[in-house]
Amino acid sequence: MSKFRPPKVTFNQLRTFESVARLGSITQAGRELHLTQPTVTVQIRELQHSLGVHLIEPSGRGIRITEAGRRLQQAATDMFGLWRHFEDDLHALQGLERGVLRIAGVTTTEYFIARWLQRFAQRHPGIEIDLSVDNRDRVIDRLQDERCELAVMMLPPPSMELDTLDCLDNPLVVIGPRDHPWIRRRKVPVSALADEPWLTREAGSGTRLAAEQHFQAWGVQPVERMTLGSNEALKHAVAAGMGVAVLSRHALSRDPAQEGLAVLPVATFPVRRQWKLVWHRKRRLTLPAQAFIDEARQILSELSP
Ligand code: PGA
Repeated sequence: MSKFRPPKVTFNQLRTFESVARLGSITQAGRELHLTQPTVTVQIRELQHSLGVHLIEPSGRGIRITEAGRRLQQAATDMFGLWRHFEDDLHALQGLERGVLRIAGVTTTEYFIARWLQRFAQRHPGIEIDLSVDNRDRVIDRLQDERCELAVMMLPPPSMELDTLDCLDNPLVVIGPRDHPWIRRRKVPVSALADEPWLTREAGSGTRLAAEQHFQAWGVQPVERMTLGSNEALKHAVAAGMGVAVLSRHALSRDPAQEGLAVLPVATFPVRRQWKLVWHRKRRLTLPAQAFIDEARQILSELSP
């Protein structure tokens, strides 16, 4: 066997590169890792120098990952996965005294997920909690490449073999500005939405997908006026009178009028959906993840929306 040469690259450089390759952007990687753009660029440059290959190339106003870059991305993803398994094994030796709970929630869960985790954190002070909050597509990516073990979402992807636990009702409602004329009506037919300017979350959002599925089921085609990347931005645009939108009731305060909003009495709404806790059916769970699932039923039964 040839003599082992330790790699010249560092974990930090690999972590930075993996983020750049996955997000396809130096700026976004910097944001994700809390690094400045020049720091990201320097780390990538050093990595290229150590390996003697180009990993990224300029392309238009952004970057493109080269073939060598794609191979390194795969190798880095595999290495990190292996390292996580090693850490999990190490923690398993220490029972629930130590370890990491890796969990991701779709954007709308930000309104309640901290309360769940607080309970868990109190019971298991030695367990670190790694929570990420993002839209459905990104949460699915995290689950797929094992950056998280557990996820909370409304629409688990049918293509993945997942176990699911129904947790919390997630009624989807139509919102409009506080003074929208429909608030004086008892019921408005769903078909009327086709004549309202339509504001919606970005592609990749589960809320958007659920709304689209509902409209398709009822044969309504609202005209999209604007796409917004967060629930809060959506609410502000609706309150400003730019249009109407579908949103989780949990994303609104108890009295939406205080936010300049009203829940509109549209027939077929609220759409009754549920958030589910999901995890890979065939993968071995860490003790913290197992403990969280075991406690979830109890925790949820005590929280009312
Ligand atoms: P999202 O959330 O719109 O932030 O992707 C969807 C969901 O509640 O599952």
